[in-house]
Amino acid sequence: MPGLITMDDLTNEEIISLLDNAEKLLPVARGELYLPLLKGRILGNLFFEPSTRTRMSFETAMKRLGGDVVNLGDVKTSSVVKGETLFDTIQMVDGYTDIIAMRHPRQGAAQYACDSAKVPIMNGGDGAGHHPTQTMLDLFTIRQAHGTLEGLNVVLAGDLRFGRTVHSLSHALTRFGCNVTFASPESLRMPEEIIADLRAAGAEVNETTDLIGQISEADVIYMTRIQKERFPDEDEYTKVADSYKLHARDLDDAKAEMIIMHPLPRVEEIHPSVDSTRHARYFEQAFNGVVARMSLMCWLLGVNVPADVMSEGEVI
Ligand code: NCD
Repeated sequence: MPGLITMDDLTNEEIISLLDNAEKLLPVARGELYLPLLKGRILGNLFFEPSTRTRMSFETAMKRLGGDVVNLGDVKTSSVVKGETLFDTIQMVDGYTDIIAMRHPRQGAAQYACDSAKVPIMNGGDGAGHHPTQTMLDLFTIRQAHGTLEGLNVVLAGDLRFGRTVHSLSHALTRFGCNVTFASPESLRMPEEIIADLRAAGAEVNETTDLIGQISEADVIYMTRIQKERFPDEDEYTKVADSYKLHARDLDDAKAEMIIMHPLPRVEEIHPSVDSTRHARYFEQAFNGVVARMSLMCWLLGVNVPADVMSEGEVI
C-alpha cells in the first residue's frame, strides 16, 4: 500500500500539487467552511512517543473533513505494555481504520509497518530517521512566505544529528534548488550519509558552527530543539544543551522577509523576545500542519480536492 515514509515517496510535482490542495483547504482548517471530503473514513493515530502538534493536527484535519479518529492513547495503558509486537498492533489497527498516522522511537519502524499494512501509513516520526508530514507543512510555510520554494537560502540549525525534521526537510529543499547551510555544534552535525546523499544528487550544502554569522543572508532560519531523549549519554547532552539560542537582538541585520521557523516544542533555542518580531513564523507553521495533513490524507485515500472548494462546501 502506498504511504508516506520518507520524502522519496513523493515526486516534486506531487509535492507542489499537495501544497496547492493544502492552500485550497485553508478555509476548512480555519473552521469557516464545512467540506466533508473524508466523511465515513477513520484515521488511526498510533503514537508510541510523545506528540502534541502532530497527533492533534492529524486529528483536527480528519475531523474538519468530516472523518473520525481512533487513538492508541497512552502507550502505558495499551497492550504494548503486555508485550504486543508492532507487527501485531498494526495487523489489528489495519482492520479498524482506513489510514494510519504513526510515530515510533525506532528508526525504520514506519517502513516496517507499511510493508505489512493494507491501509496507507503516514510516518509521523521514526526515531532519529524521518518526519515527512512535518516537511510538507514546513514547505507549505516557506512557500506561503516567499511565494516559491526555489533558490532560497535556508539555514537549518541546532541538533542536525538526531533531529528527524531536518533530515526530511534537507532532502526536500535541495530537490527544489535551495542553498542549504547546516549550522550546528560539532557533535551534532548532519549525518555524513545524508550529506553524501544530498551532494550525490547535485546539491550544494555548507556546514558551519556559526549560526549568528548566517543571519544576514538567510531567507529562512529553521531552528531545532536538542533531542535530549536520543542522547546515549546525559553528559553529552549537558555539554551542548545551551549551545544555540536566538534572541531578538541578533536579528538587526536580517532581511526584512526572512522567516524563523521551528517544528516545536522549543526549549531554550528561541527567546520569547523573537515572538513579536516580523520574522517569527513558528505558530503559523504549527497551524499549517492541519492543511498539509488534510491534503495528504485526501491524496492517499484517492479523494479529489475540488478546484473551487467554496462552491462545494457549506459556509459556517
Ligand atoms: C518534532 C519531532 O517530533 O520530531 N516535533 C514535531 O513533530 N513538531 C521536533 C521535536 O520534537 O523537537
